[in-house]
Amino acid sequence: VIAQKKIEVFCGTGGVGKTTLATSRALHLAQSGRKVLLITIDPAKRLKQVLQIEDDFSGDVHQVSSKVFFPEADEVSFHAALLSPSATFLKIAEQALERVDFDNPIIKILTKPYGGLNEIMAIVEVQRQIKTNLYDTIVLDTPPGKHFIDFLQSSQKIKRFFDHSFIEIFKYLGKSLDEKVSQNSIFKTLISSGIKKLLSYLEKVTGKEFVNVFVDAVINIYRNKDGFLEALKFGEELKLQSFSNWFLVASVDQMKIDEARDLQAEAKAFLHEDTFLVLNRCQAPLFQPWSPTNPALQTFRNVMISREQKLKDFAKTQSTRLLEFTEILHAEPDHHVAQLACQWAKE
Ligand SMILES: Nc1ncnc2c1ncn2[C@@H]1O[C@H](COP(=O)(O)OP(=O)(O)OP(=O)(O)O)[C@@H](O)[C@H]1O
Ligand SMILES: [Mg+2]
Repeated sequence: VIAQKKIEVFCGTGGVGKTTLATSRALHLAQSGRKVLLITIDPAKRLKQVLQIEDDFSGDVHQVSSKVFFPEADEVSFHAALLSPSATFLKIAEQALERVDFDNPIIKILTKPYGGLNEIMAIVEVQRQIKTNLYDTIVLDTPPGKHFIDFLQSSQKIKRFFDHSFIEIFKYLGKSLDEKVSQNSIFKTLISSGIKKLLSYLEKVTGKEFVNVFVDAVINIYRNKDGFLEALKFGEELKLQSFSNWFLVASVDQMKIDEARDLQAEAKAFLHEDTFLVLNRCQAPLFQPWSPTNPALQTFRNVMISREQKLKDFAKTQSTRLLEFTEILHAEPDHHVAQLACQWAKE
């Protein structure tokens, strides 16, 4: 039995079924009466196709009908949000009665999908959604590999950004902003010599214009610091066993299980002991009932079953909390989601 938590995170390496399983999990939880929000922090946005959502990078929350997956059954719905770094930035700015200058070239680049603020904006958005208290569970679909680790490390990055090297500048900037004194002139007179040196070097290399743009971008982010700092809370809560369920997804394949183990080691500081190892696309349950009379096929069946058993035995040495999901014999992703939702119901 899987305990009900506020947050559920689906992670794993490329192509193992994170998005499909996260979606099926959200559907299952919605069917069992919970208010669910599914968030994909993967800018690749395959979720969009799976959910059949038309999206224009708006960052809006969409209502998803279970009819997409179970046309015959009674309607239930859950919500899904595709992340947009710029939309999140805009929302925290509105909340702080501030603004964001999207004409600033650095801000423009940073807030593009994959633009550098992607993972940071992801935790800012998740924290924003937790705070609304509209949902019983928020299911997170994460990107593979490095982007997932970046996501986990985001709150540390935010902390460092606002804590250390910049703090001195920000103090002065904050003061100057409060006093509504011209930002750039104050900035130039009050910053420490180290930063001054850096900026004068930058100015030489890139020209005055770039330094002004850079300073403006920093001011833009600073003005909205409360929204960023809120996200630190989520970074801490994620590590709590009482707050989150972690699903580390692998397919039944030696290489994928090894990759999952490596990812787990890399994410060790964040994953708690309660992490489930999910073996996706198991085929043994499909071979089991099959009893071909042809001896070659009989051998094939037995080899497939015992090969998978070995992988499962190995996986058991990696994790005591193993979940298994079967290969769905269908070409369409919406069928994968629907049938996997039924399998969640048995867990
Ligand atoms: N149990 C399953 N049976 C059959 N097909 C599956 C199963 N799980 C996932 N798939 C299919 O495998 C493909 C990859 O799945 P998915 O996109 O969910 O993986 P992912 O881990 O999110 O990939 P990425 O790392 O690119 O984000 C999809 O076509 C999906 O429909
Ligand atoms: Mg995916």
